[in-house]
Amino acid sequence: MYSTILTSLENNILTITINRPDKLNALNQQVMSDLNAVMDEVYHNPEIRSAIITGAGPKSFVAGADISEFIGSSVEEGKALAKRGQDIFFKIENSAKPVVACVNGFALGGGCELAMSCHFRIASENAKFGQPEVNLGLIPGYGGTQRLTQLIGKGRALELLMSANMIDAATALQYGLVNYVLAQEELLQKAKDILSTINSKAPIAVAACITAANAVFDESKNGYATEVDAFGKCFGTDDMKEGTTAFLEKRKAVFTGK
Ligand code: COA
Repeated sequence: MYSTILTSLENNILTITINRPDKLNALNQQVMSDLNAVMDEVYHNPEIRSAIITGAGPKSFVAGADISEFIGSSVEEGKALAKRGQDIFFKIENSAKPVVACVNGFALGGGCELAMSCHFRIASENAKFGQPEVNLGLIPGYGGTQRLTQLIGKGRALELLMSANMIDAATALQYGLVNYVLAQEELLQKAKDILSTINSKAPIAVAACITAANAVFDESKNGYATEVDAFGKCFGTDDMKEGTTAFLEKRKAVFTGK
């Protein structure tokens, strides 16, 4: 079904593996199309409650957009490339179902941007993060200037953006770019453990957490008003009635997603 990604669904968690290890999983247009399509699957398949994005092989998550596709592009084509990439990464960021990046090696350029569009990140000890676009006479185009600044602050972001320097996993942890650093073989299991916990909660409330937190960074939205709206809507759900009743009855809630 997909030519550049592998998928496996287990316990309602879809693991999406970008599968071009000989090119360090660089994002060519086919990978971007496959990512777009698999996110439609995440959105619409009720069997999928959450997702993991990772890279094939032990060396790289994603080493950036495929540089070979940039040669000879015009200004207008460059803008269209960035717009398409941003739209696909917005689809990840705005997914009502949590998406976690398991960064198993290089997360450079578009790879770092992909990881940052996920709801949070877990890294292996060999992970390296960076936005090396200035080496190519470019800047990030898939949201990197924005999300890196949001996640690690302007000073650190501008240092990385302007220098093209890479940071290791320990530094990424210290910067708050990743939540955990683990041995490579523990990476997927940690993400699955966290997502299993999240999947046991009320799905509408989980989705509302994402909507409200995303509103912090969306100038067209008032984050506090978004929170009021989302909080109120939870009162109209079966799961809110079940969760509050179960607490008072001292039993475990059984959520239905309604
Ligand atoms: N686009 C296209 N191809 C890429 C790529 C990218 N972003 N990153 C790696 N590759 C390819 C290499 O060209 C090479 O292909 P080849 O075997 O056909 O020559 C293969 O992946 C392996 O990469 P290589 O450079 O040989 O591995 P390395 O261990 O020596 O170096 C990196 C690893 C990540 C430091 C290096 O590949 C690199 O700098 N990549 C580009 C990173 C970048 O600038 N990304 C931002 C793009 S906007």
